[in-house]
Amino acid sequence: MAAPMKPATLSQKVFARFLRGSDDLNHRMYAARKNALFKEVHGRVFEIGPGTGVNLGYYPSGIHWTGIEPNPVLHPVLREKARELNIAADVRTVLDEAVREDKGRADFVISTMVLCSVNDLAGTLRSVRDLLKPGGRFLFLEHVVDHANPVRRFIQRSAPYTPWRFFSDGCDPGRDIAAAIAAAGFTHVDCRHYLQAGPGLIAMVNRPHIYGHAVK
Ligand SMILES: C[S@@+](CC[C@H](N)C(=O)[O-])C[C@H]1O[C@@H](n2cnc3c(N)ncnc32)[C@H](O)[C@@H]1O
Repeated sequence: MAAPMKPATLSQKVFARFLRGSDDLNHRMYAARKNALFKEVHGRVFEIGPGTGVNLGYYPSGIHWTGIEPNPVLHPVLREKARELNIAADVRTVLDEAVREDKGRADFVISTMVLCSVNDLAGTLRSVRDLLKPGGRFLFLEHVVDHANPVRRFIQRSAPYTPWRFFSDGCDPGRDIAAAIAAAGFTHVDCRHYLQAGPGLIAMVNRPHIYGHAVK
């Protein structure tokens, strides 16, 4: 049985408002890459940290989608967007509970801009693997630590000690997420690095990105 939902924290309320205001920019920055990354998505799809449901419009029709979103402010937003797009949807709160109920059932697990803010990166990737069927795919698009530019890396690694963390709902921009995915026990990983253009300070700090897939 699902644990009772906790009320939203102040940080979650602030962040939900920020996310809702940034959907248009998100589409301008990522639409081309998401169209390519998500074109083969089908069957049972689990998305961790779907936020406002900004990815829902990129999925082919006919999927069954489960969003695992700990921020309760975003649950009605997700249900409404899925309804508008005619997507069969289920919104849940806790990843571990989803793993208990649906272990080995996912054709795809999807994460965009989430692995910077999960409390336990290795544990989350273990849960992603557990959700997938054998041969199922984890699709990811994430901002990551800058290995090439020491100034940006210093700023990324300092950010968690500033108000950044509160206003970004726990985002740690200095994580080596590519290394964590490589070490997570998938049978095959295809991880591409690129620099993502975008306006403003947040995009400047988070320019280095990865995208790709990992197969269970
Ligand atoms: C930066 S937002 C990204 C939202 C959306 N995926 C996007 O691409 O815009 C990070 C999201 O991850 C969620 N999140 C944080 N910790 C999580 C966890 N342990 N499991 C699942 N989602 C999590 C947050 O509530 C938030 O909605």
